[in-house]
Amino acid sequence: MIIAIDGPTASGKGTIAKALAAHYGLPHLDTGLLYRAVGRQVFLTAGNPDDPDHALAAADFPESLLEDDALRSEETGALASRVSIHPAVRAALLARQQAFARQPGGAVLDGRDIATVIAPEAEAKLFVTASVAARALRRWAEMQKRGENVTREEIEADLAARDERDRTRAAAPLRQADGAALLDTSDLPIDAAIAAAIALVEKQLQA
Ligand code: DC
Repeated sequence: MIIAIDGPTASGKGTIAKALAAHYGLPHLDTGLLYRAVGRQVFLTAGNPDDPDHALAAADFPESLLEDDALRSEETGALASRVSIHPAVRAALLARQQAFARQPGGAVLDGRDIATVIAPEAEAKLFVTASVAARALRRWAEMQKRGENVTREEIEADLAARDERDRTRAAAPLRQADGAALLDTSDLPIDAAIAAAIALVEKQLQA
């Protein structure tokens, strides 16, 4: 069984994906981490994220980079969004994601193009979203906890720019796939969002 979860940054899709993986006893892949590793590798090699050749070279990042705490920063997220527009980068990461999705027993994957490109055959598909204001507030609270000093306005502007890039790029733009159930988490505490996600997946599995 494959569960595909797509949605914008800070929509709650990562937390929901982890909870679904635990609930169904499936392995989970956060595909954003792969793009973040490419973005981080471009930075470490002093490459230009907007140059397709530099970005493609960075797609050959060392595995150990996936453990790097710096992958979680806003800076790396923005770099990930920039390298992810290049079709060659997306192609370089495709086989790894599809192999994970198709492993015996199934898997949960979250990202931007799981239900549209990586695993359109998924038995359950969720498109998790929330308003920019709700997502900026969550991201801001997380960053306050980590002691990072940014304003909510800065985060909101950064999220909006990233959404725009992810939704309007030519290669595998972020969009709700045919057959994907919409889950808006703007007004839901995380426990309620997880319960709603399980209910939507159950409905799709029974259909
Ligand atoms: O989910 P995230 O914030 O970790 O993702 C970082 C960036 O990576 C996101 O802005 C776009 C890109 N990405 C993508 O293009 N396709 C995916 N399946 C996952 C992430």
